[in-house]
Amino acid sequence: MNASTAPFLTFEGIDGAGKSSRIAAAAALFRTPPLITREPGGTPLGERLREVLLHQPMRPMTEALLMFAARREHLETVILPALAAGRPVLCDRFSDASFAYQHGGRELPAAALEALEALTHPDFAPSLTFLFDLDPAAAAARLNNMGGERDRFEREQADFFARVRAAYLARAGREAARFAVLDAARTPADIDAEIATLLQQRFPTWLKT
Ligand code: TYD
Repeated sequence: MNASTAPFLTFEGIDGAGKSSRIAAAAALFRTPPLITREPGGTPLGERLREVLLHQPMRPMTEALLMFAARREHLETVILPALAAGRPVLCDRFSDASFAYQHGGRELPAAALEALEALTHPDFAPSLTFLFDLDPAAAAARLNNMGGERDRFEREQADFFARVRAAYLARAGREAARFAVLDAARTPADIDAEIATLLQQRFPTWLKT
């Protein structure tokens, strides 16, 4: 799989950090309308796997394997073709989520996730990853306010999300050039402004003037 010139931007964070609602605002900044997609999901197969992953109890390693199965299909059929055609891609979660949730949260060995990542997308990584960082108690309060049925992940307890958050931050620390850590406790307008500034610094030719 070849790297491509169009930016591949990913949005990460614990459940309730508020990333999904900021992706549309980021997309509006681009000259070429980006492809907006999500994981698990983004393909017909991926969306079926998402239903299973979010609602069917399973072992942690099974969960990791299905996440990467969905990811490979998504990459080959959606993400890489869009990038090759010169279209930016904004993706709600990618492999960093597997390290955070299946290693941090579920406590699978990091080496297992590294092996799956190497198998699924050797030599390919996001151009830039926005990590929406939020205290798990604040994220839980947001999930409560949103109401609705909770999926398998959203039903996890504070200690699970504390491990997920720590794993995200550790990865962001190791790959500091790829990550932008955003304080997600701020207002949406403040977060949008920081994302706009970062995109202007990193991808000026791709943005509207
Ligand atoms: P998300 O789309 O953020 O959920 P929602 O639509 O409810 O905002 O993600 C779905 C869940 O999948 C989320 O709890 C995190 C989890 N997940 C993993 O555990 N590993 C992964 O690799 C990915 C992509 C997601």
